[in-house]
Amino acid sequence: MSGDWAVELHGVRKRYGRGGTAVHALRGIDLTLRHGSHTAVMGPSGSGKSTFLQCAAGLDRPTAGTVRLGGTEITGMKENKLTALRRTRIGFVFQAFNLLPSLTVEQNVVLPMRLAGHRPDRRRAAEVLDQVGLADKARRRPGQLSGGQQQRVAIARALVTRPDVVFADEPTGALDTTTATEILTLLRAAVDTHGATVVMVTHDPAAAAWADRVLFLSDGEIADHLDRDGTAGHHHLDRDHPGSDHPGSDHFHFRRAHADRIAARMTSLAVPRAHAKAAA
Ligand SMILES: Nc1ncnc2c1ncn2[C@@H]1O[C@H](COP(=O)(O)OP(=O)(O)OP(=O)(O)O)[C@@H](O)[C@H]1O
Ligand SMILES: [Mg+2]
Repeated sequence: MSGDWAVELHGVRKRYGRGGTAVHALRGIDLTLRHGSHTAVMGPSGSGKSTFLQCAAGLDRPTAGTVRLGGTEITGMKENKLTALRRTRIGFVFQAFNLLPSLTVEQNVVLPMRLAGHRPDRRRAAEVLDQVGLADKARRRPGQLSGGQQQRVAIARALVTRPDVVFADEPTGALDTTTATEILTLLRAAVDTHGATVVMVTHDPAAAAWADRVLFLSDGEIADHLDRDGTAGHHHLDRDHPGSDHPGSDHFHFRRAHADRIAARMTSLAVPRAHAKAAA
């Protein structure tokens, strides 16, 4: 993707409904993400994380503001042009997986290629299924898989076209620690090896600690952020092998300390503003 930034949001607002029952899900989001960056988005349930991701990925239209992907403004784009851009340049992992139950695992994974009008590349499908640990499940249907396995199919489907930007809504939410680590390694590798830009929503500080930057959403606004650089004197570590994960390695310890920092920041943000003022 060309353009200075992989993702740009300016003054993005999203309102659901009208009048007295209107919900202001996003209240003015300004954000630029560079190519090859890995961002985690955290915040309480209902703070607007999924809405943010869907507006940024062009799956939903903001009520106000602009969104640019790779320098191309998508906000006013015609639906068919936007769909084409999404299919070729964006990978999306839905919070609820969105797998088609009547298709096999392999057919689900190659779906983005089919929808983009390309011949399904079965070797590429086998490759990504292997990367998510499901090489032997290609012929199953989603209903015959566990929740965590379905989530991994959804991740394979998002990565199959090697998109410029991957948006993932709770990609490790249904996974055990070992599988979650494999998925985070995979997303990190998409960033470090292929130069992809990854934006992932998570509730888990340990998952967020893999990202370069954590954004904290609160009530439809970016309330805070935490960068991995500058949080400790470990810059060189991150740049060399950000994804390495041997328990006992420096990276492992660094990420664990960073996860503690993220958890502490979340706790401090969870204190309602009125309380914080009263305590101050
Ligand atoms: N289609 C919709 N119609 C009306 N309100 C909606 C719709 N989708 C989301 N909302 C509301 O917008 C707000 C933000 O929702 P969103 O799904 O973005 O939250 P979230 O941070 O992803 O929460 P969670 O962690 O539970 O997934 C919530 O108050 C939600 O009820
Ligand atoms: Mg959500």
